[in-house]
Amino acid sequence: MSHKEHWNKAYADKSTDQLGWFQQNPEPSMGLIRSLNLSRYAEILDVGAGASSLIEHLLEDGFQNINVNDISPVALDKLREALGKEECNVEWLVDDIVSPTVLKELPLLDLWHDRAVLHFFIEDRDQLAYFNLLKQKVKSKGYVIIAAFAVGGAEKCSGLPILQYNQEMLSQRLGFDFELKEVIDFTFVNPHGDERPYIYTLYQRK
Ligand SMILES: C[S@@+](CC[C@H](N)C(=O)[O-])C[C@H]1O[C@@H](n2cnc3c(N)ncnc32)[C@H](O)[C@@H]1O
Repeated sequence: MSHKEHWNKAYADKSTDQLGWFQQNPEPSMGLIRSLNLSRYAEILDVGAGASSLIEHLLEDGFQNINVNDISPVALDKLREALGKEECNVEWLVDDIVSPTVLKELPLLDLWHDRAVLHFFIEDRDQLAYFNLLKQKVKSKGYVIIAAFAVGGAEKCSGLPILQYNQEMLSQRLGFDFELKEVIDFTFVNPHGDERPYIYTLYQRK
């Protein structure tokens, strides 16, 4: 089964609130985003957004340029439906983040947000492709929030193997051009009651 098929099936098989990564309240992401005092016109990209409640919260905060990516069209259809109406402030981008086509056409970004996506790329070439796109697209003074499974935590997500991260690994991939602003150890309790320790990092490009 291809990655796209895996994710389409994951979203088709379960209601959104039964997905192992479902969050009613997208924290600490929203807290971090609010602390940045971004303009309402900031270009925001949520990579591998799935059916995340983050988008609804960003819309509630008045953001007008929200780019929502996922490899799974099924996931984005669910999210579009959950939002309840056609949202003119959202761009829907079905694309593979490690083999991008439409994502390459994005304007420069004020914020790159990733929760629970990078950790699925266990091959070095996929990690390189991910960080290449990030570095092409995040503008000077722009921000990067990456949340990944922490070292010592779960070894799989959605039945797929993952790579656990610590802050040093992320800083190394981003390089000296990205200044670390904040690190949060956050234990997410999933809808089945299981603990999933994450590391949340916030960087700003120089
Ligand atoms: C564990 S879920 C997290 C979803 C969302 N970020 C959240 O916090 O609820 C991982 C997401 O990454 C997406 N994904 C996996 N591989 C991807 C890829 N190569 N390009 C874009 N999205 C991908 C999946 O479809 C899925 O929605």
